[in-house]
Formats: sequence, C-alpha cells, structure tokens
Amino acid sequence: MIYLDNAATSHPKPKSVYKAVCEALYRGGSAGRGGYKEAIIASSVMYECREKIAQLFNIPSPDRIAFTKNTTEAINMALKGILKGEGLVISHMEHNSVYRPSMKYYREGNEVLIANADKFGYLDFESLEESILSTTKLVCINHVSNVCGSVNDIRRACKIAHKKGAITMVDAAQSAGIIPIDVIKDEIDILVFPGHKGLLGPVGTGGIYIKEGIEFDTIMEGGTGSESESAYMPELMPDRLEYGTQNVVGIAGLLEGVKYILENGEKISGHERELTKKLLENLSVIPNVHIVGNPSTENRVGVVSVYFSHKDVVEVANALADEGICTRAGLHCAVLAHEALGTLKSGTLRFSVGFSNTKEEIDEVSWKLQKILTS
Ligand SMILES: Cc1ncc(COP(=O)(O)O)c(C=O)c1O
Repeated sequence: MIYLDNAATSHPKPKSVYKAVCEALYRGGSAGRGGYKEAIIASSVMYECREKIAQLFNIPSPDRIAFTKNTTEAINMALKGILKGEGLVISHMEHNSVYRPSMKYYREGNEVLIANADKFGYLDFESLEESILSTTKLVCINHVSNVCGSVNDIRRACKIAHKKGAITMVDAAQSAGIIPIDVIKDEIDILVFPGHKGLLGPVGTGGIYIKEGIEFDTIMEGGTGSESESAYMPELMPDRLEYGTQNVVGIAGLLEGVKYILENGEKISGHERELTKKLLENLSVIPNVHIVGNPSTENRVGVVSVYFSHKDVVEVANALADEGICTRAGLHCAVLAHEALGTLKSGTLRFSVGFSNTKEEIDEVSWKLQKILTS
C-alpha cells in the first residue's frame, strides 16, 4: 500500500505510538478516577501529554489544554461556548467543521461574516479587516487548507482581529505538528487541533487551548473526577471541558506522537517539502492534470489537489485504490474552500504526504496516475 491520505489521518504512526497504545490498553486505569497505581499512571500520562503539547505550541500553562475526541469537537466547544449572540467572522477556506456550526449560529439569527480567499486559497486580509465589525466577538481562521495545502499568515490575521478587539481562534487541523505554531507570537487566543493527523497520535484524539482570561461556557456536562460535591462543572481548566472518562489509551499514543514531533519535526518538514516538490513537478507534466491552488512549494504544505480535463476524480481515485494507492476524492468536507478555489463542480483528487512516504513512492504514484489517465 502507498498511503497518501495523511490529511485525513496520518498513517503509519511511529512505532512508539503503537507500543504506548497497547501498553495503556493492557495496563487499564481511568485518569483522575482512583488512587491505585494504574489510575495514577493514566493521570500522569495525560499530564505529560499536556506538557509536551504546551511545549510544542509555546502554551504558557498546560492546564489550559483540554483533550477532545477530534478537532470538530474542539471547534464546537469554542464556537458554542464563547458566542452568545455576538458577531462571528470566519474565512472562505474553512472546513465544514467550522462552516456548519457557524451556519447554524447564523440561522439562529446571529451575525456571521465570511472573509474572502483568493484562487490559491490564501486569505484576503483587506476583506478580513472589513468583515470584523464592532459587534464581532470571535474571528476563526483556517491555518492550512485541507484542500490545496495553502498556509495562511495567521499571525497577520490574529493581529488584525486583536486590533479590532476580537478574540482569535485558529483551526490547526492541517498545521499542528506540520509547521511551527507559537500561540504567544502568533497571538492565538484559542487553538483547536487534532491528535490523529500531524501530531501522529491515534484516531479519537484532539484538543483545545483556551487562553487564560477568556470566558466560555460548557457545551457538555458530566463527571470530571473533581469537585464531585458540586452540581456544576468545575471552573478550573482542564476539568471544565473534560467531561466523562477520558481516552487515556489514545492519549498515551498521542504523547509518543508529540514527543516524536518535538524530536524530529524539522527533519520531517524538510522531507515532506522535498516530497511535495517532486509530486508537484511530476503532476505538472502529466497531460490533462490541473493542479489546484499554488503550484510552487512556497507557503504550502504537502496537501496537493488536482482535477482532470477528461476524467472524474472519484473514478481516478478508485482506479488508484485498485493499485493499492490511498488518496481521497470529492469535496473533502470543505464546500467553502472549493467555492474559493473554483473546484466546486469537479471536486478534487487529493494527495497528502506523510513522514514515512518516499520519493520512489511519489514516482510510482505519478506513473500509475499517468497510466490510468491514458487508459
Ligand atoms: C481544516 C480542517 N479543519 C477541521 C477538520 C476536522 O478535523 P477532525 O476530523 O479531527 O474533527 C479537518 C479534517 O480533516 C480539517 O482538515
């Protein structure tokens, strides 16, 4: 198998991730739910994972990070927990996990504005500035497009939002673990991220960071293992957002994924940049292939979308799958982004590289694609 669907979820994971998941599953124990050895280990694994994530994103206090089951859950916690009738601004490159809760909020009678993006998937900063009104409370920006890999200048976007008095939120689903994020320098008030993509953890993991001082409500309530005498959710983070039994098995794996990124992140980025360059070069010379978005390696990551003059993207993805090549075709849950990129009708076939892919694999995929397109 050649796996080129790392934007959906990364595969394979580092060996240490598989080992940690198995060990945690065999060991047992629920974090914050007992004084016996196994429960204490589960709590300390969660704490260590928070610390490592804080180190990676320069988050001043690990306690401000809560674990979630994916990015979508984190996004919903932020949007629904913070907005109480005030204005929301999102960008034209958002995933449905931002777009759909935003549109629900809009349908409920609230103000939601969408800042434009250009045909390469980059945010229009003038449009962003114009969209932020005195009524805007929250500005949510996609860091890296899951359709065309464009990297948005989130520091510039967050500075604009702060200047206009709004809270900033960054969807780092495609950037966490792939490119550097510094919540202080980038002026990010809320960061939502998956554990299962660039951080190389298992599916079922993700998280949210909320800066100290930002007020938010809960969207789910339940047991936290703390303040059990109270009828209400604790005010203290992370307990305030971590309801019910936590995914300690997944988080044990995520801890190893984050450690791997802390140790090898730069090397992996360099490798993925090389693979992306090769992929773009190969694709650009195959007849009837149209590269979507930025055709160069500048300001982009290894998420590369194409469509074809004469063949349907799903048909080609299926033919590649028959050859053992894993890609994804369609709208990638990002209708807004396709509108901006002009690919709403065709959809795209998406290749997304990972740390274990090789140049030989990229050549093999390109060659097989060419064969399918001429058959
Ligand atoms: C840009 C973006 N945001 C949000 C999500 C949702 O992530 P998750 O599947 O972890 O909920 C994705 C998933 O691919 C994404 O690419």
